[in-house]
Amino acid sequence: MNLKEMLNFADRIVFEKTGQHLDDLQEAVLKGTVQHETYKHVAKDFDCSESRVRNAASQLWQLLSEYLGEDVNKKNFRSAMERFQVSNVSNFAQNVSEQHISGSFNICGEGRHPPDISNSYNDEKSNSKPTKTLHQDLSEMPELGDFYDRTLELQTLTTWILQQNCRLITLTGISGIGKTSLAVKLVQQIKDEFEYALWFTLDEFPTIDKFQSNVTQLFSQSENLDSSPTNQKRLPLIKYLQKHRCLIVLDDIHNLFGSGELAGKYKPQYEEYRCLFKQIEKLSHPCCFLLVG
Ligand SMILES: Nc1ncnc2c1ncn2[C@@H]1O[C@H](COP(=O)(O)OP(=O)(O)O)[C@@H](O)[C@H]1O
Ligand SMILES: [Mg+2]
Repeated sequence: MNLKEMLNFADRIVFEKTGQHLDDLQEAVLKGTVQHETYKHVAKDFDCSESRVRNAASQLWQLLSEYLGEDVNKKNFRSAMERFQVSNVSNFAQNVSEQHISGSFNICGEGRHPPDISNSYNDEKSNSKPTKTLHQDLSEMPELGDFYDRTLELQTLTTWILQQNCRLITLTGISGIGKTSLAVKLVQQIKDEFEYALWFTLDEFPTIDKFQSNVTQLFSQSENLDSSPTNQKRLPLIKYLQKHRCLIVLDDIHNLFGSGELAGKYKPQYEEYRCLFKQIEKLSHPCCFLLVG
């Protein structure tokens, strides 16, 4: 993780915890920490008292510790951030509009998730037993060439999805780090635990209406195939998600967001995806959406 990625990540955490982005002093503390500067040095650069820097730092360490589930301080800030590398953001829907999706997390290394949100993934109704995959549309999933390592990441994601019933997971990180490959490998390993396994690569995202209608079409088609042909009415997407255990991957979701900002924003035409992600996160259903940045 480079300095910018660390600042992005810290900004997301602070925003999630406080509703406010990093202020200039907090940013100076983090930069100084990464560059092994003393608080005195930071205070001098920032032209303020050392005690003000210490206070700001102590509040920051507190927020980061709560979020990361371990004691974070000046000495271990960098390593703590790097340990938290596979992102599992259950309240993604709430915050995704504020996040800069590309380049914020690396996916190498040990994956962890914060204890304060981990329980919210559990959905009592979704402890369904593994079901044979009945329907797959993986035509847009890239073919996987040689694939090495990532054992820990695969284990972590598998646990989150199959045991903890995470409903919404994001994999983000700089381009080329292996997010898509990791997702492909994961899908290959766990797809048979789901009734539906679907992969969408969204170079050019459709509008939310088009996207929902494409997906519901898949469901309604296969339902009609399963039962004798009827004139079943197409339901809203969430209704299908509540009926069937699905694994749905959306790759390249950074295309939903504007780039070049510390905290990303949905492009205006994709604003409504926020509601979809919110529903997926909040409502009870047995599915998992894996969003790959
Ligand atoms: N675990 C891995 N083992 C071998 N090659 C990998 C692995 N992960 C990624 N790669 C290779 O690295 C390149 C970039 O990976 P990709 O998954 O497309 O990255 P991203 O989605 O993060 O941009 C691809 O050529 C891919 O085959
Ligand atoms: Mg990719």
